Amino acid sequence: MTITSPAMPHHIAIVMDGNGRWATRRFLPRVAGHKQGVESLRRCVKACVDRGVAVLTVFAFSSENWNRPVEEVSGLMDLMVGALGREVPKLSHDGVRLHFIGERGGLSEKIAAGLLQAEAATARNTRLVLNVCFNYGGRWDIARAAAQLVARGEPLTEANLDAAMALSHVPDPDLFIRTGGEQRLSNFLLWQSAYAELFFSDRLWPEFDEAALDEAIAAFQRRERRFGQTSAQLAGGARHDPQAA
Ligand code: IPE
Ligand code: IPE
Ligand code: MG
Repeated sequence: MTITSPAMPHHIAIVMDGNGRWATRRFLPRVAGHKQGVESLRRCVKACVDRGVAVLTVFAFSSENWNRPVEEVSGLMDLMVGALGREVPKLSHDGVRLHFIGERGGLSEKIAAGLLQAEAATARNTRLVLNVCFNYGGRWDIARAAAQLVARGEPLTEANLDAAMALSHVPDPDLFIRTGGEQRLSNFLLWQSAYAELFFSDRLWPEFDEAALDEAIAAFQRRERRFGQTSAQLAGGARHDPQAA
């Protein structure tokens, strides 16, 4: 008898939530929680590389996060500038290819240039694709894709929309994790998560370590992904063919 190990999710998406609460509980400013969140992301990226996960997509700043207090928004922007300088060489060394997903128009010139530079510097890496969603919203993504098709005079079919979406360079997420205890999507990957397995963790993002990731992956591996079929069909060897939809 051969024992096959359960499949790793190919693509994991994470709403990295709970930084503010992590800081507040320690009587620290919220930005200290975001700083710790960057450390947690580094650990998570390394863990994904070690486990053979091919794609990691994280929510770093939402279209709605502009509504936060000015000091917090500027703290987050400063953190991005710092992380671009400090983390990109290390990520590149680990074989990570970076993509930034989101509306760049609203960002400072310094950040916009930094994002382009980081993408170019890591473009040849092949171990892990890391999509950092920054100034991103799922509705922004869908509306922008639709507008592109209209401008090109192409029909609004599922396939055309899919190809025009910001994550068209990777397959849809298999596992969608949200930390921080909330059980909502908050406008993350609305289109792409149609068949993702959802996992909600009570851990705050700065505390989401390798063991917590393994717990999420183990939960994923216990799920039966039916894609509209029945259990009996799957047991009989029927396979989901995304092209046949
Ligand atoms: C998520 O943590 C990070 C961002 C939204 C930038 P939060 O800052 O939302 O943390 P909580 O939810 O207030 O604890
Ligand atoms: C979602 O978290 C956005 C990010 C993690 C970047 P929020 O903390 O902004 O979500 P809500 O406001 O609680 O829904
Ligand atoms: Mg939050």
